[in-house]
Amino acid sequence: MSDDPIIRLVNLRKTFNIKGKEIAALADINLTINRGDIFGIIGKSGAGKSTLVRCINLLERPTSGSVFFEGADLCLLSPAELRKARRSMGMIFQQFNLLMQRTALENVRFPLELAGQSAREANPRALELLEIVGLASRKDAYPAQLSGGQKQRVAIARALTTNPAVLLCDEATSALDPATTDSILSLIKEINAKMGVTVVVITHEMSVIDKICDHVAIISKGVIIEEGSTEQVFFHPATEAARKLVLPEALQNLPHPNAYRLIFNGRSSFEPVVSNIVLNCGCPVNILYADTRDIGGQAFGQMVLELPEDPKSRERILNYARTHSLVLEEMKNV
Ligand SMILES: Nc1ncnc2c1ncn2[C@@H]1O[C@H](COP(=O)(O)OP(=O)(O)OP(=O)(O)O)[C@@H](O)[C@H]1O
Ligand SMILES: [Mg+2]
Repeated sequence: MSDDPIIRLVNLRKTFNIKGKEIAALADINLTINRGDIFGIIGKSGAGKSTLVRCINLLERPTSGSVFFEGADLCLLSPAELRKARRSMGMIFQQFNLLMQRTALENVRFPLELAGQSAREANPRALELLEIVGLASRKDAYPAQLSGGQKQRVAIARALTTNPAVLLCDEATSALDPATTDSILSLIKEINAKMGVTVVVITHEMSVIDKICDHVAIISKGVIIEEGSTEQVFFHPATEAARKLVLPEALQNLPHPNAYRLIFNGRSSFEPVVSNIVLNCGCPVNILYADTRDIGGQAFGQMVLELPEDPKSRERILNYARTHSLVLEEMKNV
C-alpha cells in the first residue's frame, strides 16, 4: 500500500448561484487526509461541511481546484473511471437514507446488485457485513422496524459492501442519543482498525471528534481555519472561532460577562491550580466548565471560570495567573 495521502484537496472552491447571487460555500480548501486515518471536519451549521464531503466523492463538482483520490484527479476521470472510484468511497448520513421497501439484508446487498451481481451472489457478503455490524439477527427487518442506531448499522454495512477504501460520514450520529452515538462511534473505530478503512467524520460536535478522530480540521464560512492532531486543536486552539467550537454548545454563547478560560498545557496534574488561585487571591471563582485529562501525569485541557464581578479581585487573579505562568484568557463572543 502506498504512503501517498489517500485524499488531497487542492485549492478547492465551490460556489452556488442562487437567484443570480454567487454564494461561496467553499473557498480555497487545501486538505490532506492520510490512509488509515480517522479525520474529522468540524464546523457550525452552514460552514460548508456537507458541500466539502460531497466534493470528496464528486457528488458535487468543484467550481475550481482538484480532488485527488488515491493519486488520481477525480475531475479528470471518465464517467466509468469515476464510478469505479466512487465504489471505493462509502458514505453514511444523518438520516440513514435506507430504502424503506427493502429489508436490512436487501439494503446491504443493494450496492452489489447495482454493480451487476444477482441477489444470490450478493447475499454472502451482505450477511457477513450484517454480522460485523451486529445485526445479523435482524436481517429480515424493514427499516421502519429498526431503531435509529440499528438503521445506522445497516447503513454502515451497506456502505462497506463494495470494500471501500474510505468511509465518509456526514453527521452520522447527529440523530442519535448519546449512548447510541457512542456505540456507533465505537463501531466506526473498529471498522477503521480491523478493515483499514480511512474514515472522514463530518460533525458539529467536538465530543464526536474527541472520541474517535486522529486529526481534525475546523471549517468556518467555507474556509479551513485550523488543522492538526485532535489533541493539538482541542487543547491549543489558535483562533477564537476554534476555541468556541471546542467548548460544549451550551457554553458557546456564554451569558457570563466575566468568563475566562484557563488552559492546561501539560502542567502537573497534581497541582491544585484553582485552589491555589482562590487561596492566594482571597476571592472565590466559579467553575462553569472543566475538561481536563491526565496524560502521563500532566494535565491537558481547559476550564471555564467565572471570575468575581469586582474589578480589583479580577485583576488580582489575572495578576496571579501572569506571575504563575497560567494561561487565563477572557472569553470573547465571536
Ligand atoms: N445545492 C445548493 N444550492 C445552493 N446553496 C447551497 C447548496 N448546498 C449548500 N448550499 C449553501 O452552501 C453553504 C454551505 O452549506 P453546507 O450544507 O455545506 O453546510 P453544512 O456545514 O453541512 O451545514 P449543516 O451543519 O447545517 O449541515 C450554505 O450557505 C448553504 O446554504
Ligand atoms: Mg451538512
